[in-house]
Amino acid sequence: MPFKTRENLEPVNDHDKEKEIAGQLEELREAIRYHNNRYYVLDDPEISDAEYDRLFKRLLDLEALYPHLITPDSPSKQVGAKPQETFSPVKHSLPMLSLENCFGDHDIRDFDARVKRFLKDDRPLDYTVEPKIDGLAVELVYENGMLSVASTRGDGYVGENVTNNIKTILTVPIRLTRPRDNSPIPGLLEVRGEVYMEKSAFNDLNQERLLKNLPLFANPRNAAAGSLRQLDHRVTARRPLNMFCYGVGRISGAAFETQLDLMVALQAWGLRVNRPHIRLCSTIDEVVAYCHELEEKRQGFPFEIDGAVVKVNQLALQMSLGQKSRSPRWAFACKFSPTQETTRITAIEVQVGRTGALTPVAHLEPVEVGGVFVKRATLHNQEEINKKDIRVGDTVIVQRAGDVIPEVVTPIKSKRTGEEKVFVMPTQCPVCGGEAGKKTGEVVLRCLNPNCPAQAKESLKHFVSKGAMNIEGLGDKIISQLIQKGLIADEADIYGLGFDDLIRLDKIEKKSAENLISAIEKSKKTTLARFIYALGIRHVGEHVAELISTGLGDIKAIESATEDDISKIKGIGREIAGSIVAYFEDESNRMLIDRLLAAGIEFEEVERPEASSSISGKSFIITGTLSSMERSAAKELIVKKGGRFVTSLSSKTDFLVAGDSPGSKLEKARLLGVKIIDENEFLSLVGEGNG
Ligand code: IVH
Repeated sequence: MPFKTRENLEPVNDHDKEKEIAGQLEELREAIRYHNNRYYVLDDPEISDAEYDRLFKRLLDLEALYPHLITPDSPSKQVGAKPQETFSPVKHSLPMLSLENCFGDHDIRDFDARVKRFLKDDRPLDYTVEPKIDGLAVELVYENGMLSVASTRGDGYVGENVTNNIKTILTVPIRLTRPRDNSPIPGLLEVRGEVYMEKSAFNDLNQERLLKNLPLFANPRNAAAGSLRQLDHRVTARRPLNMFCYGVGRISGAAFETQLDLMVALQAWGLRVNRPHIRLCSTIDEVVAYCHELEEKRQGFPFEIDGAVVKVNQLALQMSLGQKSRSPRWAFACKFSPTQETTRITAIEVQVGRTGALTPVAHLEPVEVGGVFVKRATLHNQEEINKKDIRVGDTVIVQRAGDVIPEVVTPIKSKRTGEEKVFVMPTQCPVCGGEAGKKTGEVVLRCLNPNCPAQAKESLKHFVSKGAMNIEGLGDKIISQLIQKGLIADEADIYGLGFDDLIRLDKIEKKSAENLISAIEKSKKTTLARFIYALGIRHVGEHVAELISTGLGDIKAIESATEDDISKIKGIGREIAGSIVAYFEDESNRMLIDRLLAAGIEFEEVERPEASSSISGKSFIITGTLSSMERSAAKELIVKKGGRFVTSLSSKTDFLVAGDSPGSKLEKARLLGVKIIDENEFLSLVGEGNG
């Protein structure tokens, strides 16, 4: 993009300069028109929403400084894009507007002040605040309770006729229901709302498209728009779309005082409204707080939200405030920080994991996504690269949502110059030069050299990590030096390190060397589960290690267990059991364990789960901090009592324990209908309560 977004925006008087600004404005308008077409008409954007918002803001800022340069055809005065001619046009009886964007608390308070200035009186005013669903706007016209026409927003005046397609959405009623109080249904109702696709449905759809070699949708919004705007409604019918209604156009035979009353009525007529998340706020502080709350809960919603929509609640005041060319004066969108950005892949590097797995990682031109600078993104494997057709030099959409590792969503093929290079995974390990290949029955490409130093380093990093032996201070840099200097080659060597070895390393002081020695010493007292996990056996994460530890009780029993013995343990399947047996069959692994035990590693006695425990077999997830114990202690308690400690939440999870300052899991649990308990309830459930 040739536009600088942080340019000085001081107005100038100079005639030449003004000509230059006029030129810049025209370029900006052209660019926005182009991107409008890609987004609204083709459902195939070339830039992230965040970049689009920046272009748009730049246009608004420049036009505010040079109002005499505003042209009537500026995108700042228009909504969306002209409807596609392949659909028959539908004229909206009242224009379908867009919303002004706010990007922070200051903008929100500014909006409130403007509303109050405009109204010039002290009539009481409150706001409704609700999630801004990232989908596409549609209008449904009901005549005498029957759905007659459904259309997209189009350019705000004329949209596309998608009636047959809309009728395939199960939650859109073909006929309105009569409310319980038997009040009449309006003779005419033009209801507006957002059609969207849930995140999980979008992921499934893209997976399916990957398999069929079809281009991927960049996000759920594009998937929803692409699915609704199909010429063959049978295609739409196969796509899991849904709709939330959020407003009306014309309505006859019913009158309301507030936005909230209107929403309640829509619901009573059988229309789907995002009622649980619409909140009435009587002060702007409450508005700000709820916008923040929604942003925090963002990941927990099953659908994508890109902001909060704030509306003046009193409909009479909405009328007085009226509208500007493209947006009403009574509502605005508070935009959240973006989760997607556009950037470029400068190189693809192959990383070697502790099990030798070779993973391609994209190096990116650094880009800020939701407040974090992203420089790398995983590409998973060659198959994924092929399916998505990702090349070095490609402009791509990257995504970072919550705690998820950044990933490349899709390349933007229309931006290719012909210079992009196809990437092929190497046939040799990039670190040791050993042969790379796939083990029988596996899809993962690995370095097959058991003595690969990169694998050794990753194994060591895993061995000392927090959930494993927890040796504080033994970080990446120290491990690298220790390997380079030949002081360690495997895990058991760590226990042979002395103060004199450590003090010889670069950038390590006496105190740190002493601390490290005591951390190594301290790690010798551990639990069997931690030790098993630390060994880095394939498919054995913390939870499986816990199950094996409680299931078999001691290291000797584990070493000699057969596949049958292990797969008898609840929660452990054949594949995991096979991997464990294979690990212990390897002579070098058994020798390593002997050396570790000889170095003094010892385990606290394993407590077998109580057979008739009230929580046996039940799964627990914890969010927030507990006041009476560390999370690891709570986890051990759950396992001891025969429950299962899980880290990923699903509708199958039995309990979510909510501690102080819970995270987004709490909201997700609510949405999934998982039982939520507090710390006291948890303690009494596991039989550790006071009463
Ligand atoms: S109210 C006058 N409420 O956001 C327009 N819009 O950027 C009133 N949107 O065109 C719109 N969720 O497509 C409203 N809860 C919500 C919304 C919402 C998503 C979309 C809608 C609108 C766009 C504006």
